[in-house]
Amino acid sequence: MKHLLSVEKLTRDAVESILAAAKSWKAERRTSSRRPLAGQVWALLFSKSSTRTRVSFEVGIRELGGQPLFLSANEIQLGRGELIKDTARVLGRMVHGAIIRTFAQADVEEFAAHAGIPTINALTDDEHPCQILTDVFTYQEKRGPIQGKVVTFVGDGACNVPVSWMFAAAALGFELRIAAPKEFQPSPELLSRARGKISCTEDLRAAAKGADLLYTDVWVSMGKEAEAPERVKVLGGYQINQAMVKLAKPDALVMHCLPAYRGKEIDEATFEANAQTIFDQAENRLHVQKAILDWIVC
Ligand code: CP
Ligand code: NVA
Repeated sequence: MKHLLSVEKLTRDAVESILAAAKSWKAERRTSSRRPLAGQVWALLFSKSSTRTRVSFEVGIRELGGQPLFLSANEIQLGRGELIKDTARVLGRMVHGAIIRTFAQADVEEFAAHAGIPTINALTDDEHPCQILTDVFTYQEKRGPIQGKVVTFVGDGACNVPVSWMFAAAALGFELRIAAPKEFQPSPELLSRARGKISCTEDLRAAAKGADLLYTDVWVSMGKEAEAPERVKVLGGYQINQAMVKLAKPDALVMHCLPAYRGKEIDEATFEANAQTIFDQAENRLHVQKAILDWIVC
């Protein structure tokens, strides 16, 4: 049985096959009659807010012939203390797959271990694999192979999104530069696990120089709200703006996983100048996740 729990555990072959299929799913969105989820119900079990991930999975499951079942963790017994492994064993007897957004990575892994159904990580504190597969897909759609390119991540370099980028760098052979204050850089343990061509620096200008892709994410991830004042203070300045864009390659892309906070991790002018790319990136969540679902059930 296949799961998608992290980029770390995905093989290069799996990544390539998902990205190739996403291209077909996108091209054939209106014409394809393939329904690999026909007769299936997939649960979306979410403990955190979501716009893109929820909508793209709900629409994608329907387009693949299945039915989504959205479950807010607080509205089921899980929110009152029922164990994850018991929830998993119940859902595993009733639905055909599960898509989980939560805090601890260990919880998604525990669910997958007990449910007996394919399980997808729709964001944990550690990784956001569906997002990064989509980001790579979007880059390649616009600029060709990402192998050998330079991706510069600016902002909270230790949260789920840059961590998934780290594992993708190793799998796909591109350079990743993380521009972040010392306390928001990934741990040495994580860097050695990722094994790719990855550097961390506090020097924003050096990180942006010659980049093919400038990428950022919120300074305050879900679950870190209590740290917001401190984060805004320490991360202040770690922003993608016109000065950063000037240092990157002339055809560099600017991407953001969204939601965006203008004036914080990106300025208004740079966001709007790159809105086409950023909203293509958001749309591509649908196509890439259809490819993930198809890959997981086949
Ligand atoms: N980028 C992303 O995962 O967006 P949502 O939190 O809206 O799902
Ligand atoms: N790092 C962000 C990603 C949001 C899609 C968070 O976890 O809130």
